[in-house]
Amino acid sequence: MSDSKARLIRILQNAYSGEVAAAYAYRGHWKSLKDGPEREQIKRIEEEEWDHRRRVGEWLEKLRAKPKPTREKIFWTIGRTLGVTCHVSGWFMPMYFAGRLESKNSIEYEDAAEFAQELGMDDCVDDLIDMARVEVEHEEFFRSVVADHRMLPAMKRVFRWG
Ligand SMILES: [Fe+2]
Ligand SMILES: [Fe+2]
Repeated sequence: MSDSKARLIRILQNAYSGEVAAAYAYRGHWKSLKDGPEREQIKRIEEEEWDHRRRVGEWLEKLRAKPKPTREKIFWTIGRTLGVTCHVSGWFMPMYFAGRLESKNSIEYEDAAEFAQELGMDDCVDDLIDMARVEVEHEEFFRSVVADHRMLPAMKRVFRWG
């Protein structure tokens, strides 16, 4: 197997499991919020993460690769745990760490797109770039909601996002 193909598969396997963690974490997150535009937006983001997972799964199949079972279990647990944590951690922390995580997701899909490009998989490149774009939208949403929060400057110094 070529190096690019192995690397693309690796990123897609990571992303596939990452998306299940994100989706469950967001499910817990929007359920912990009161009715309003933030709740609706995060509900939509959850749906978009499920959509990503489905699309990444299709590319794995086309590459004749499979998700990693251990990773699936670990990330399922992470997602469920974070989802529960949102009910007790207050408003700011889930918003902040979601934004920070999203900033990494978009880079992950951009890296994957580069490997797909090297393999001449043009449809895959387009799909990955589109997912990277949606992750940037997610990041921008979380950035905008925490922008004026009093805790942001301190968090920014420690966790380098925002
Ligand atoms: Fe996603
Ligand atoms: Fe996302």
